[in-house]
Amino acid sequence: MSDYWQGHYDAATLDFDGALLKQVGKTVNGVEVPEGQLALIVGNIISLLVLDKADVLADLCCGNGLITRRLAPFVREVVGIDFSLGLIETAKRTCPLANIEYRHADVTDLPGGFFGGFGKVLMYEALQHFSEAQFGHLLGQLVALAPGAKVLLGSIPDAERLRDYYDTEEKYEFYLQREREGRPHMGRWWHFDEIARSAEPYGFKVQRILQPQALYTAYYRFDVLLERTA
Ligand SMILES: C[S@@+](CC[C@H](N)C(=O)[O-])C[C@H]1O[C@@H](n2cnc3c(N)ncnc32)[C@H](O)[C@@H]1O
Repeated sequence: MSDYWQGHYDAATLDFDGALLKQVGKTVNGVEVPEGQLALIVGNIISLLVLDKADVLADLCCGNGLITRRLAPFVREVVGIDFSLGLIETAKRTCPLANIEYRHADVTDLPGGFFGGFGKVLMYEALQHFSEAQFGHLLGQLVALAPGAKVLLGSIPDAERLRDYYDTEEKYEFYLQREREGRPHMGRWWHFDEIARSAEPYGFKVQRILQPQALYTAYYRFDVLLERTA
């Protein structure tokens, strides 16, 4: 499934050349969301991760750097990582800042101890592309974080509200058809309990957080904050 999503985002980079929000699916009915929505997302991340100028932040699955670039002024340094070469090259070209380093890598395949130097980790709108096994593997790497470190898994499709999103029979059939064809529309819809059950054994306190009501994804996605306890 990783190859599928890597191909999907590499193709989106070319299909939507110059349309940064479309490249990473920040649209409603195919129309890019307004800048105010990005500002809401960024404000929510800053507040949940309690970002400050001393922080070294890892932005996992950073895409084309849309969010990375907006967070960078609030931290000391940010490393953005994505496995789509097209999106990482777009990030380097369109969202560069002196304190951002963009890297092309699969975040489920990072070297052991990678997270030792980070105090905060963000993964926004990407857990949908992970299987439980891949998430478990990432958690195994995140144990290198120091006690008190925070990880925000932002904007996760909520399995309990799947039908709030695919809210007509036609839309639901489209979802099912894509699943049957092995080319999912959005990816995996998660139950909060699955995330908690996966993360707690790795020494994380796990908190489910509702998104701000004004955010366009609030009716079908939720945020999860992990805090390293051990
Ligand atoms: C919906 S986009 C979100 C991008 C960015 N976080 C944002 O919110 O604008 C999902 C991103 O996850 C990346 N991705 C998915 N699985 C990945 C993996 N295993 N390693 C690195 N990147 C991955 C995709 O390439 C894509 O850029």
